[in-house]
This record gives sequence, C-alpha cells and structure tokens, in this order.
Amino acid sequence: MPDSPLVILAARVRDAAAAVFGAEVTLPDPSVLPARDPRHGDLATPAAMSAAKQLGRSPLELAQALADALEVADLCEPPTVAPPGFVNLRLRDDWLAASVAGALDARAGVAVGADPTPTVIDMVGPNMAKEMHVGHLRSSIIGDALARVLAFLGDDVSRVSHIGDYGTQFGMLIAQLEDAHPDRDHEAEGFGLGDLVAFYQAAKVRFDADATFAERSRQRVVDLQAGEPTARAAWAALLERSRADNDEVLALLGVTDLVERGESTYEPHLPAVVADLERAGLAGEDAGALCVFPPGFTNKEGDALPLIVRKSDGGFNYATTDLAALRVRVAEGARRIVYVVDVAQSQHLAMVFATARAAGWLPDHVEVVHVAFGLVLGEDGKRLRTRSGENPKLRELLDEAVDRAGAFVVARAAERDEPVPDDLDAIARAVGIGAVKFADLSQHRLSNYIFSYDRMLSLKGDTAPYLQYAYARIRSILREAGWRDGPPAGVGPSAVSLGEPQERALALRLSSFGDVLDRVVAEWAPHHLSTQLHELAQAFNGFYEHCPVLRVDEPLRTSRLALCLATARQLEVGLGLLGIEVLDRL
Ligand code: ARG
Repeated sequence: MPDSPLVILAARVRDAAAAVFGAEVTLPDPSVLPARDPRHGDLATPAAMSAAKQLGRSPLELAQALADALEVADLCEPPTVAPPGFVNLRLRDDWLAASVAGALDARAGVAVGADPTPTVIDMVGPNMAKEMHVGHLRSSIIGDALARVLAFLGDDVSRVSHIGDYGTQFGMLIAQLEDAHPDRDHEAEGFGLGDLVAFYQAAKVRFDADATFAERSRQRVVDLQAGEPTARAAWAALLERSRADNDEVLALLGVTDLVERGESTYEPHLPAVVADLERAGLAGEDAGALCVFPPGFTNKEGDALPLIVRKSDGGFNYATTDLAALRVRVAEGARRIVYVVDVAQSQHLAMVFATARAAGWLPDHVEVVHVAFGLVLGEDGKRLRTRSGENPKLRELLDEAVDRAGAFVVARAAERDEPVPDDLDAIARAVGIGAVKFADLSQHRLSNYIFSYDRMLSLKGDTAPYLQYAYARIRSILREAGWRDGPPAGVGPSAVSLGEPQERALALRLSSFGDVLDRVVAEWAPHHLSTQLHELAQAFNGFYEHCPVLRVDEPLRTSRLALCLATARQLEVGLGLLGIEVLDRL
C-alpha cells in the first residue's frame, strides 16, 4: 500500500494552502477528513473555511482557489468545491486498485516506520498478594493492544508491569505467613497459602483488631525494607505465589513479553529522589511528612495539594516509587512513557509528571501520557460485582467467557449438523477471550461499559465472533479458489478493477487502515481500530452479496479474489493488533 491517503493529502493541502493563503494562516487539524456525504467525494478539507475566517474573505472563493492550486492528480479526480467552503476529493479508481494490490502481503500493506521511538508501556501493575480482579482487565487489554500497534508500526516497545510489591500491607502479610507456618521454610513448604484473597483478608482482620499484631506488622515492614533475611524470604515467597497466579491469567489473556519491574525495583533510588527534591527546594515538611506541592493542584477549598514523597514514619510510598521509576526510565532512554492506568489515578499521575518536570527529570523530548480508562459495569449499570458482592476475580470472569464460547461453538455445530471440532478448546479460547477483548476495545476507553456475555458472544453486531466468522468465511472462499497461501504470481495493480460501487466502497475502506492505526496512536484510542474492522466486515458483506466471486469469469474473478484476500489480511492483522486470534473455520 502506498502512504495512506489522509497522510498524503494533508501534505498536499498544506503546500497548496501556504501558496494561496499565505504561510501565516493556520489550518484546522486534521486538515483532511472522510467526507460526510459520500456522493460528494471520499474525503474533504475544511481548510478554506478556516482561512476565510482568519483573512475575512469569502470561504467559497478561497475554496475554489485552493481546489485550483491543489496538486493531487496522481491520486484524485479533479477536486470540487461545495458550500459553505469545502474542497471535496475523490480518489481515483486506479489509485484505489493499486492500494488493494499493495495490501495482499502479510502486513496488509502497512509499512514499518523508519524511526523507532523507544517506548515504555506501563500496564498491568497489580498489587501483589491479592488476586487479579476485574479492575486489571482494561489495563491488560488496552495496554496490550497499544503495545502491539506501536511495535507493528516499528517502535521499540517494552511492556512494563509496575507491580505493587512494596507497600506497608506486606508487613501484615509477612507476619500472617510467619504465624501460619512458624519455624518453616516458606519456599519449601509449597506456599500453603490456600486462597490468596482469604489469606489477605484474614491478615487484614487481625491487623485491624489486634494491636500487638499490627505493631509486629509495622516492624516487619521496617525489617523488610532494611533487608532483614527472614522478612525478605517470606516476602519473596508471597510474591512468587502471587506471580504464579497472575502469570496464568496473563497467559490466558495472551499478554506476553511483560517485564516485571515492581515498585521494589526502585528501592535503591528512593533516598536520592527525596534528597534531590529537597535540595531543589521542591519538597518540604508538612505535619511530619515530606511533601511536594506541584503548582496547579488544589483541593475544593483552593488549598495546594501535597504529593507525599516520605511519610511521617519515614517510609516511602507510591508517589516516591513512581518518581523513581520515571527517572530511571528516562535515564534508560525511553522517549515515550505510556501509563495505562485507571482514570481514578489521573491526579496522582499528573502530580508525579509535574513534580518530575519541575525537578528536571522529564525533559521536553520525552512524552509522558496517561492512557486512562473507565469502569467495567454489571448489567445493572453499577460496578461489576459477584453475586456475593465481591470484586470478581479476573480468572473466573475469563474462564466463564471461554466456557460460554465453547457452548456456543458446540451449539453452532449441532445447528449445522456438523461434528464438534477436534480443537474445541482452542476455538473456545480464541472466541471467548476475543469476545471479552473486543467488547472492551470497541468502546472509547474513557467510557464505562456494561459487561455482558450474551452481547459480546453474539454473532450479530459489533463483536469478535462476528469478525472471526467473517474472516473464516473469506478464508473458505480463498481455500476454494486455491489462494490459501496468497495470490498467484503476477497479481499487480492492473489485475484489480472496481467497477461496482460495492467493490469501490470495500477498496476505499481497505485503504484507510494505515490512517486508522496512526489515529489509534495519536489518540491512544484502540476503538478506532475496532470500528475500522467492523466497518470493513460490513463493507465486505455488502460486496459479497452483490458481487459473485468464485462463479465469475476472469479477469473479474482474480480482481474479486484480491479484494477478498486484502480483506482477510486486514482482519487478521487488525484483530491480531487487538490481541484477538483469528480462526480458519468457525
Ligand atoms: N499498582 C497500581 C494499582 O494497582 C497500578 C500501577 C500503575 N503504574 C504506575 N506506574 N503507577 O493501582
């Protein structure tokens, strides 16, 4: 695929606008958009309208001047002008045909970027010694999708899990473990912790009720942070057990290459972080705690909000480890740090970023973003809960999706009088996990959404099974045509013709893939990719209803098979970027 049309045309509009309006006129961003009414063209630019406002001139006249100056003959029909001042663009059919022919490869025609940005994606940082719950779903899914898109576009991505392995809660957990298994080697004894959640709750109950236990817990944190070996060993045993649980969930989710760098990793850097803040005059004592008051953060009463970096008991906290992590990441060469963390932590992260900037640890050439997300809701519209009112365990939520997907596959086979597939487990996993992911990634990340197995597993609508089914159907067409492993040799741009409106509509949708991926990154919003794939499948269905493929004569047959293959490639690559598996049969 040549460069995406929006990218090329935005550059052409920029050049023409500078020539006819003058370089001082600022253009709207984006300067080229998909056309609102497809009868007027495929794309449009509102540039003349914003120039007209700035120059106090007639938008229609400026639109005509812009249309005359635009040099787009290589990819567009002659531009047209429409009131109140749009310039409309229609891509040439031969350009679209070439773009289809260029999209038959394994990357669906998308080029690898030339200039990799070292990027850290801070995702899935559960607090350890608790089981992963539904609150960790979105960070995993959204973080993974963004990591995959960036890596696909050529960036140098590390996925970092900033686990909570350092807090004061470890004191009570260590004390609880020591009481449950006195005089025993925690490692050798197979982590007889039973249910981690129950273990944590039992420790908490004792901590709240028993002052001696609470005191000992506090002492054990001090011991732990001082490196006392038995406290360290108990802590390590707790982490290892918790990690083993989490790894199973992450494997089920298909999240790989996650590097664990928990809060405790930064322990050696914490004293310097605090000392440097004090030396720079940024931190001061407030009621015994050492605080930074980054400018611009106030409470409802208008008082400056503190970011506590050393508690009154001398301990470091979440803010201190986040500052240290940021400093280390920048020092290690990160040029972009993406925090995929729930929206409730917006203020914390904003204060961390502001403090790091003030301290000079966050130079301008390093981009930091908080990719915030909303809640997962139950069918009642409230925060998702189990029947007994608990936070659902992620493991159980995913297992149920896989079970239901298995039942769905079995029922479909029965409906069609087919045997149950041999690889039922693998299919159930692909469909069930795919359904959970797509339901999440098809919403704007900041919206809360309702978690509904029935909806996400439906074959109709905006769901993973719908797309997986569309993909499997195209694969079966390609198999029948002998195109299973790709096009026959010599299928180039001239082999593709777009005579029917449905063929052209499909080619147009195919051509926007690169633009959509750019937009996912520009807005940190994977739902644009989900929308693209759903619209692609719909365009394909429209095409397939009107245009026979296998029972049509050459050269049309090859042309239509190329459209089928390009669609399959884009679905496979696109779903893969969302972390969703495709299936050859469904
Ligand atoms: N441990 C945190 C939590 O469970 C998430 C960590 C997010 N990353 C970070 N750098 N603060 O809420």
